Amino acid sequence: MIRLAIRVRREQSELVLAELLQLAPGGLEEVDGGEEVEYALYGPPGELPALPALRAAAGDSLVEVSTEEIPDNWADRWREFHKPLVLDGKLTIRPPWEPRGKTPIDLVVDPGRAFGTGAHATTRMCLELMLSRPARGPFVDLGCGSGVLAIAAARLGYQPVLAVDNDPAAIEATHANAATNAVELEVRRVDLRTDSVPLAPTVVANLVTALLVQRATSLSPGAERVIASGILAEEAERVVAAFAAARLREHARCVDGDWVALLFETG
Ligand SMILES: C[S@@+](CC[C@H](N)C(=O)[O-])C[C@H]1O[C@@H](n2cnc3c(N)ncnc32)[C@H](O)[C@@H]1O
Repeated sequence: MIRLAIRVRREQSELVLAELLQLAPGGLEEVDGGEEVEYALYGPPGELPALPALRAAAGDSLVEVSTEEIPDNWADRWREFHKPLVLDGKLTIRPPWEPRGKTPIDLVVDPGRAFGTGAHATTRMCLELMLSRPARGPFVDLGCGSGVLAIAAARLGYQPVLAVDNDPAAIEATHANAATNAVELEVRRVDLRTDSVPLAPTVVANLVTALLVQRATSLSPGAERVIASGILAEEAERVVAAFAAARLREHARCVDGDWVALLFETG
C-alpha cells in the first residue's frame, strides 16, 4: 500500500482540494501543517492518480509531492478517518464496523473506492437540507458516489429514487450500499457533462461549481427543488445566478468553512 501525499500552501488549499476530489473521489486525508496543508491518498501502486495530474491540480500552490510505502495497518488508519455521522437525532450514517446508531434511521455506508462516507462537509450539508423539507415523490441524486444521499432519500420517504454517476466505482458502491440497507434504487451510469440530465421534482447535486453552472438550465422545468453542493464560498453567487436563469430561487443556504450548499425552489 502506498501513501501519496501532496503538500500545498494554505491560502489556496480549498481550491486545490476541489480539484483533487475530481482525481480522488473517494476522499483524502487532511493533515494541518500551519502555513501548509497536506492531502494524502492511500492505494496500491497503479490505482493512484498520476503524479503529473496531481501536480497540475495543485498548480502554483504546490509545495511537495511525496510517496511512502506503508505497512499493513493502513486499514486501521482508514477506520480512524471514517467515523459515524449523526444528524438531528434522526439519521445515523456509519461504516460497517461501527455499532448500530440510536436514531430512527440507521444507514451503513461503505464507500469502497467511491466518494461518500457522509462525513464530508459537502455531503453533510446536503443531508441537513434534505432533512429540512418533507420527503415525498421522485428524487434524483446527480453524482451519487457511494449512494449515500440516494439511500438516505429512499429511507426518508422519497420514491422512486434514481442515482447516477459517471464513475464505475460509484455505480458498484451504490448498488452494494443499496442492498446492504435494503432500499430500492435505480442506478444509472450517466456523464452529466454530455448526457441529458435525468429529472425529478427533487434533485440533489453534490458536484463542482463548473458542472452545476453548466447544467443549471437543464434542470428546469422538471425540478421543483434542487440541493446543490460542492460549491466554494467565493463561487456561490455564480451558482445562484445560474439557477435564477432556470427559475429556481435560493431558499436556504448552509455554510461550513469554505464550503456552501444551496437549496433552490421554484416560486
Ligand atoms: C463530491 S462527490 C459526491 C458523492 C455523494 N453524492 C456524496 O455527497 O457524498 C461527486 C460525485 O460526482 C461524480 N461526478 C463528477 N463528475 C461527473 C459527471 N460529469 N457525470 C456524472 N457524475 C460525475 C463523481 O464521480 C463523484 O462520485
